[in-house]
Amino acid sequence: MNFKTNEIRHIFLDFFKNKNHEIISGNNIIPKNDDTLLFINAGMNQFKNIFLGKEKPVFKRITTLQNCLRTGGKHNDFNHVGYTNYHHTFFEMLGNFSFNDYSKEEAILFAWELMTNKKWFNIDPQKLWITVHVGDVETYQIWKKILNNKLKNNIFFLGSNNNIYENENFWQMGEIGPCGFCTEIFYQHTKNHDSNISPSVFLKKKCVEIWNIVFMQFYKNKNNTLNPLTSFSIDTGMGLERISSVLQKVKSSYEIDIFKEIINEIYNTFTIKNNNQTSIKIIADHIRSASFIIANGVLPSNEGRGYVVRRIIRRALRHGHILGIKDLFFYKIVPVLIRSMQGNNKILINKQKEIEKTIYEEEKQFFITLENGIKVLNKALNKLKNNTLNGAIIFQLYDTFGFPVDLTEEICKEKKIKIDHEGFIQCMNLQKSRSKKFKKNYFTNIENIPPVIKSKFIGYNNLSTNSKIIYISSQGKQKKTITSPDHASIILNQTTFFGESSGQIGDKGTIYNKTGIFEVYTTTKQLYSIVHFGKIIKGHLNTDDNVIAKVHCKTRRKIQANHSATHLLHSSLRYIINDQIFQKGSFIDQDHLRFDFNYYKKISLKKIFNIEKLVNKYIQKNILVEETFMELKQAKKLGVLSLFESKYSNQVRVLSIGSYSKELCGGTHVLRTGEIGYFKIIAEQNVSSGIRRIEAVTGDAAIQYNQKQESMIQEIKTIFCTNTENIIKNIKSVLNNNAILEKKLQYLNKKNELTIYKDIVNEIKKIGKYKILIKNFTDKDILLKNQLIQSLRNIKNNFIMIFTYLNQNKLSITVTISNNLLDQQNALTIFKKIICDTTIKGGGSKKIACGGGKNTKDIKKVLFNIQQWKEKIIKE
Ligand code: ALA
Repeated sequence: MNFKTNEIRHIFLDFFKNKNHEIISGNNIIPKNDDTLLFINAGMNQFKNIFLGKEKPVFKRITTLQNCLRTGGKHNDFNHVGYTNYHHTFFEMLGNFSFNDYSKEEAILFAWELMTNKKWFNIDPQKLWITVHVGDVETYQIWKKILNNKLKNNIFFLGSNNNIYENENFWQMGEIGPCGFCTEIFYQHTKNHDSNISPSVFLKKKCVEIWNIVFMQFYKNKNNTLNPLTSFSIDTGMGLERISSVLQKVKSSYEIDIFKEIINEIYNTFTIKNNNQTSIKIIADHIRSASFIIANGVLPSNEGRGYVVRRIIRRALRHGHILGIKDLFFYKIVPVLIRSMQGNNKILINKQKEIEKTIYEEEKQFFITLENGIKVLNKALNKLKNNTLNGAIIFQLYDTFGFPVDLTEEICKEKKIKIDHEGFIQCMNLQKSRSKKFKKNYFTNIENIPPVIKSKFIGYNNLSTNSKIIYISSQGKQKKTITSPDHASIILNQTTFFGESSGQIGDKGTIYNKTGIFEVYTTTKQLYSIVHFGKIIKGHLNTDDNVIAKVHCKTRRKIQANHSATHLLHSSLRYIINDQIFQKGSFIDQDHLRFDFNYYKKISLKKIFNIEKLVNKYIQKNILVEETFMELKQAKKLGVLSLFESKYSNQVRVLSIGSYSKELCGGTHVLRTGEIGYFKIIAEQNVSSGIRRIEAVTGDAAIQYNQKQESMIQEIKTIFCTNTENIIKNIKSVLNNNAILEKKLQYLNKKNELTIYKDIVNEIKKIGKYKILIKNFTDKDILLKNQLIQSLRNIKNNFIMIFTYLNQNKLSITVTISNNLLDQQNALTIFKKIICDTTIKGGGSKKIACGGGKNTKDIKKVLFNIQQWKEKIIKE
């Protein structure tokens, strides 16, 4: 029986429901409160805290269908997609989970029953192969019992007892996290097992892995040590697309019903010039991942998740280019994707317009870049001498043409061309130091600070405190003492310094005692600690020293004013534009604030003024800014705005500015809005598709900004000799005059050109039956050349033109003949004669040929050759 993919989703969940599992929905693909993951990559992610014993399960047995993305980190299939039959960036994972409930044996029996029982998937057991970790004899015994003698050879031991987590049959969620041995079930497509090849080659080449049963037993920490977990859990994962391919009897998950729908649509809608199967697969896969990511609120950008979706879209566009699709196309696949995902497409249906628009904008933006970049890259690749692409070219493509480095890398990889990484990095560094933005990296090896070190933040209401140094790191190593002028990172048991987070920059200030003074340049947040980076400017400091930590008061005040103003701006935007606006990023320092939010078009000046007015009204009301701690649930009920949702954290900090603004926020703020003083927007612009940015200043910075604008107006008035009332009128009148003068100039130029044109026509010589024009152009009259070629060739019969153009570093030659001479003369032959014995290169047709070179000395030989050719013509 052939099952439809949508049926398989239900059969799996129903099977486990029958076995007393609770069916719960998969998580949103954007992880909540898990910094170790960019996207959900397995069904077990949402249960991580249960596996780790940090949370109690509500149900002991659960089954889910989880949308997964494997585009980075520990599980990254991005580069496999298109080149294999089974890899995807986006896929659906079916799974069953037991939390300290059933045994290994039960888990395996469930899997075997669902796979082989006639009532369920009814797969021939002879076609199933099992892998077990070499150290997991217990699992082997269980399988042996189930498969009995007949099939016991279908079990392979894989993996190794050394560095177990680096080998087969050991599954881990990420570099850090829950993990354990696993046993996998493979399906064999071919008939017989060739016993001459090794098990791993056989499995890789002839089979597809369809189910992974993981025994969650350990927690792997940063130092690669495995700590046993307090309870034993089961985590299984079955790729829906893969099991569909088995049950639908096709040899690739790209041939199953739901992929077929997408691929057929691609063939039916677009003109495919080059039927490249890899490109088809990549496009069909990438529309799924891109759409799901966008549907979950991530927009293309240059960082984090936004960069992943941008990369996915751009790669798909490049493959559209390979197929020969000549127009924007990717966004047009969204409707068929939604149809194909029937049974798991609710979020796509709700967000269809947003997905299409986002992809369309990204496509539009990248279209020209792609065309130009590929042209430049191909040209460079054609000229390659040593099979390595020069770093300077990669840099030029990136810097001048905006062509992504990973795409250059990918194209080179396909053509088996190496990349000069070092050269590229050198070019990047050179540019960085040129633009003076290159900051000296004195903050070495923050990574080395052990995560167990904890410090307490007590700086919401105090700027100075007595404290104790508990950790010092300098040049990547832990230090007992630092002496002037060492750069170092210091951790205190408690601190008033705010560590950079919530978009707010870290505090500056000093840490000191009688023996030394440490200047803090900035402060960041580690897992549990707050790290002060800086330099010891006097004496020395030791670990365990008692010190005073004092934040630079003026700077902190400015930062606070900007942070509170950001909240007021957020609420004003929602009030004046619409309440669907949400924060998509922010940056706050002592000089200004930057706020990114979702909105598609430019905000009119009138609205900007209204927003400014509203924020300033809130400032003038001198409203009390209050913090309260509450349960997340309660905060949600109150309609508190938050960037993220958390299922697990209990207490959250809610920052309220009267009834005007309520946000979850960890940052520092003014006590009353009056402290902000004055708010002024200084820029509003687009940052990426669907995201706009407002930059603003407050207090003294805002006054200074206004004064600068005023001085500029004064200067303009002086230049135009006018007063404030007439300034616009005067500028307009000058521009008008300029336009008139420009027109006059154009007229005179035209007249001048006509004279030159006439002079050139007078230079035409009659030689035998031919009219010949040999002319050398300079920069002064070069613009006339093409015009001359067009007009003279069509009107003059028996006409041969030879044009040279010479400047300081270039020599070029054009030969063209009139249409009536095409059966007697050949422009290309004449051109070849003329460039004989020179370094000039070029080509063309019978009608027109051209070329050039960098050796300007060739002009001598060229003129000589022209003379020779002319003499031959005379003799004719
Ligand atoms: N968590 C396991 C996997 O993703 C089941 O393969």
